[in-house]
Amino acid sequence: MNRRNWIKRTGAAGAGLLLAKYIKASDLTLAFDAKDFVKADFGSDFKWGVAASSYQTEGAWNIDGKGESNWDFFSRIPGKIERGENADVAADFYHKYAEDIDLIKEMNFKVFRFSISWPRILPNGTGEINLKGLEFYHKVIDKCISVGIEPWITIYHWDMPQVLEAQGGWTNRKVLDWFSEFTNVVTKEYGSKVKNWMVINEQLSYTGLGYMQGIFAPGKKSIKAFMKSIHYSTLCNAESARIIRKNVIDANIGTTFVTTHIEPIDQQKKNIEAANRMDAIMNRLFIEPCLGLGYPEDTLPILKKLKKLYEPGDEQRMVFDFDFIGIQYYFRTVAKHSMMPGMRAKEVKASERGVPANEMEGEIYPEGLYHILKKFSQYKGIRNLIVTENGTCVPDKLENGRVHDQGRIDYFKSHLEAVLKAKKEGVNVNGYFVWSPTDNFEWNKGYRTRFGLVYIDFKTLERTMKDSGLWFKAFLG
Ligand code: FCB
Repeated sequence: MNRRNWIKRTGAAGAGLLLAKYIKASDLTLAFDAKDFVKADFGSDFKWGVAASSYQTEGAWNIDGKGESNWDFFSRIPGKIERGENADVAADFYHKYAEDIDLIKEMNFKVFRFSISWPRILPNGTGEINLKGLEFYHKVIDKCISVGIEPWITIYHWDMPQVLEAQGGWTNRKVLDWFSEFTNVVTKEYGSKVKNWMVINEQLSYTGLGYMQGIFAPGKKSIKAFMKSIHYSTLCNAESARIIRKNVIDANIGTTFVTTHIEPIDQQKKNIEAANRMDAIMNRLFIEPCLGLGYPEDTLPILKKLKKLYEPGDEQRMVFDFDFIGIQYYFRTVAKHSMMPGMRAKEVKASERGVPANEMEGEIYPEGLYHILKKFSQYKGIRNLIVTENGTCVPDKLENGRVHDQGRIDYFKSHLEAVLKAKKEGVNVNGYFVWSPTDNFEWNKGYRTRFGLVYIDFKTLERTMKDSGLWFKAFLG
């Protein structure tokens, strides 16, 4: 099937996605030809960027006054990270930031999205400020500006000071004060140079995987803890955005959500309903309270329990009118009914269905990005969408100075095609950021799964641009 046909086959209506016919991705060809689109098709204001995070790239975990993060702590617990790895050195961005920003420039990107390590700025979580930490991000920002790249800052990308995690982290309502203090410090410090801010990276990932499934820091497995982290991070998301608005003149304020296109395994009612419940958790849980719609408890009654955590005024406090919403999309999810308490739905893995997937079992399904952009564009309160992360891991091999990552190039072409289709149909999507400029530390997977446009030999820390980096250089040039 060619790329024009998949739109027909899926109906592509945007609305009623969960009723769309389930189609095996193996029916589709991913080989979209780059001849089908050029950069100019996306418009001259479209933002082309790359995205990375502090813990995954910086290393220098205990250098120049940085405090311990929850991930520094968690990665030392035996069995938590594949092969027992940690990000003590990571991509050594702390020392190689200038080289990496030059590489971003060479690939012709105009935006670099990165995050600030909270314990590098506030080693004790609150209180005393680490001046060397502040200085580091000034150097990163200044380097970006000097080569014509816009710095876009994410305030929180999962590395919380361990002293605060030890007091419950996101499950302690005091996080509202802690996070407000951190936001105040960084926005006052960098607000005159940086205009583009994102509050939080993917609430669902660190609350769900960290407090309920136990596979991310801090490794808890508790539905109660998950509930608290949902509500308190939702409050923080809006509260921090209000602080940015106050501190930064002309700020462009966003936040980012992880998304996945969800379809039922078949058209049985129980599976359609299971897919809807999964959608409530995986796509609606965090955006809807921030738009003033409350948590999606109509679809998932267990979320009514969140009300027990409310204090007077919370309903309003969760709301903020963001300038843009960051969509992070990697794969599709196929759902079926299960007896699992709470969601009563489970994922049917790509391997069970025999469809193309990446090394993390995420099904490669570009049409899903189109559907997600359409879905989010239907919320009245959303003004502007930016794809703040999209990318894939393939088994890269460095041979004779080259990395031929054709699979990654195909992934980008097909996903860009999906973005363009949505844009042409009137979706207000105005940017696309690749995850990630260089290989880095992929959380519980360690260094095994590589997402970079630039290959890193983690023994020598030498950088080599992959074919995908060269492809972007040509496409954006
Ligand atoms: C996203 C995370 C990012 C990275 C990519 C592969 O969910 O935001 O840090 O791990 O997945």
